[in-house]
Amino acid sequence: MTRVISFHRLRDNLVVKFNDMKNLIVYYSFTENNKKLAEYVRNKLHCDIVGIETVKKRAGLSILLDLMFNRKPGIKPVPYSLRDYDHIVFMSPIWAGKIAMPLTSFLIKEKQNVRTYSFITLCGGGNANQREKIQNLLSIVLGRQPITVAELWINTLLHDEKKNTIKYASGYRIDSNEFNAFDKDIMKFLNAAGLVVSE
Ligand SMILES: Cc1cc2nc3c(=O)[nH]c(=O)nc-3n(C[C@H](O)[C@H](O)[C@H](O)COP(=O)(O)O)c2cc1C
Repeated sequence: MTRVISFHRLRDNLVVKFNDMKNLIVYYSFTENNKKLAEYVRNKLHCDIVGIETVKKRAGLSILLDLMFNRKPGIKPVPYSLRDYDHIVFMSPIWAGKIAMPLTSFLIKEKQNVRTYSFITLCGGGNANQREKIQNLLSIVLGRQPITVAELWINTLLHDEKKNTIKYASGYRIDSNEFNAFDKDIMKFLNAAGLVVSE
C-alpha cells in the first residue's frame, strides 16, 4: 500500500514539474501565416509568446536583397529574457530554403540564451530535403541541435489540380480554421518536443 501511495505521489510530482516548465513561443511572420500558427500553438500551451519585428519594415525588394546578399536585418528588442525559459519554440516562414532572415538575426543575437528549443514552420513545402536543411541551419546558428523540427506544408492544403504546381505557394494566406487540417502534425511536433498541452 505504501508503495502505491508513493508511486502516485511521484507521478503527481512529475506532472506538476512538467506543467511548471516555462515555455516561450518566438515567431517571425511577414504575411501572418506563422503568426496564426504561433497563436494556434499558444492556445494549446498557454505560454508566453512574442513576435519579432524588424527595425526597417521588410518588403518584397528588401527580402530579395536580404536573400541575395545574405543580409541579416536589424530587429527590435523583445520584452522577455530567453534565459528564463526551459523550452523555446521558434516559428518563421522559409525563404529560398532558409529560415527567414529576421528570425536568423534574432537567433544570432540570442544564441547564448537559448538552451532547449524546437522549430516549426508553416511553409510552401514540396521539397523533401528542406526539413533536414533547416535542422542543420539551426544547429549551426545556435550551436546546439533542436529537440525537433517540423514543417507544415501549404501545398497539402491546395486543391488537387494546384498541388505541386505553384512554387512555394507564397501567395497563400491561411485562415485560422484551416489549422484543424494540421492539428495531428502539430500535436506530433509538440509531443516530440516534450511539451505538455493544457486544453
Ligand atoms: C520570397 C519567398 C521565398 C519562399 N521560399 C520558400 C521555400 O524555399 N520553401 C518553402 O517551403 N516555402 C517558401 N516560401 C513560402 C513561405 O514560407 C510561406 O508562404 C509562409 O507561410 C509565409 O509565412 P508568413 O505568412 O508567416 O510570412 C517562400 C515565400 C517567399 C515570399
